[in-house]
Amino acid sequence: MNGTPPTGLRTVLGLETSCDETAAAIVRDGRTVLSSSVATQHDLHEEFGGVVPEIASRAHIERILPAVRSALHEAGLAPTDLDAIAVGHRPGLIGALLVGTSAAKGLAMGLRIPFVGVDHVHAHLASGVLDRVDPPWPALGLVVSGGHTSLYRVDDLVDPRLLGRTIDDALGEAFDKVASLLGLGHPGGPRLESLARTGDPEVFDFPVANLGRDRLDFSFSGLKTAVRYATLGVPGKSVPTLDDQRRADLAASFQAAAIRALRRNLGRALDAESDVQSLIVGGGVIANEAVRGMIEEIGAARGLDVVLPPMTWCQDNGAMIAALGARVLAARGPSDLDLAPVATSRNH
Ligand code: KG4
Ligand code: ZN
Repeated sequence: MNGTPPTGLRTVLGLETSCDETAAAIVRDGRTVLSSSVATQHDLHEEFGGVVPEIASRAHIERILPAVRSALHEAGLAPTDLDAIAVGHRPGLIGALLVGTSAAKGLAMGLRIPFVGVDHVHAHLASGVLDRVDPPWPALGLVVSGGHTSLYRVDDLVDPRLLGRTIDDALGEAFDKVASLLGLGHPGGPRLESLARTGDPEVFDFPVANLGRDRLDFSFSGLKTAVRYATLGVPGKSVPTLDDQRRADLAASFQAAAIRALRRNLGRALDAESDVQSLIVGGGVIANEAVRGMIEEIGAARGLDVVLPPMTWCQDNGAMIAALGARVLAARGPSDLDLAPVATSRNH
């Protein structure tokens, strides 16, 4: 079933508006990217230190049709060349999802072609099959984004089975909060990564939560609090001077602890799912070089085929939505036009 879109639905437009990227892309046969247009809103949210849902929704309304036009133009296609429209209809900011879902339905109705809603977190796993052949299945899947940190067993991209997830902050969210604490602004992840390059990861021994010997869930709130105390001082005690070197050491030590948590649970999951053939990963935090290095190391040590999407496909984009949409259409057929956006993931 994987990788076999139905005959007649070869060219799929994917729309993504779950958070602060307005994206449209056209993908052929569930994997070949013909075009991709991504309008980020970082400039609109920077002064607030995080994504403001109402501002995001309004910006999506203004940008969604220009993104579709740009994707069509780049692919050299007319709207009538499209065979189906896919949209990430969950999870995300509800007003933002509503814009993409409504646009997808309107376009599908106008063009009289099928419409399909897909889970954005699962779509991050599908970014691993863009412009390449499928890895050998089953795979262990890891999504690390601003909203999710989840491990899956992936027999089929259409129906990944959740093995573990964060019980509090997502790792991207923790990166963003620590970055803000260190005065790096928004979006924090990439800025924190750059600062970490100049720091010593062994200066602070930050804790990595262990929720139980066999548990595959994550928790990052204790780590975040430990960084907070090391940065601002423990209440009632003197405040340490935050010079550039200390900030860099804090960033490097935080990143190292976060990677220890990912490495440990990946190891546990691979022990439990010993028949997996490959490791497939996605989400914004997978753009981080140190995270990528750790994943490559684990893959090499265990003899697994590792699928590390290029940076552009780690961040939110429409191509991963179209790729998963083609597979969901093949497996289950189109969605009903009354499909509503949902704030949560199908299985977190
Ligand atoms: O997948 P994504 O684009 O959007 C969501 O679905 O959430 O992920 C965005 C998250 C943000 O928290 C951002 O700070 C983080 O990914 N991120 C990074 C890096 N690039 C993006 N975190 C760490 N290092 C990076 N290089
Ligand atoms: Zn995402």
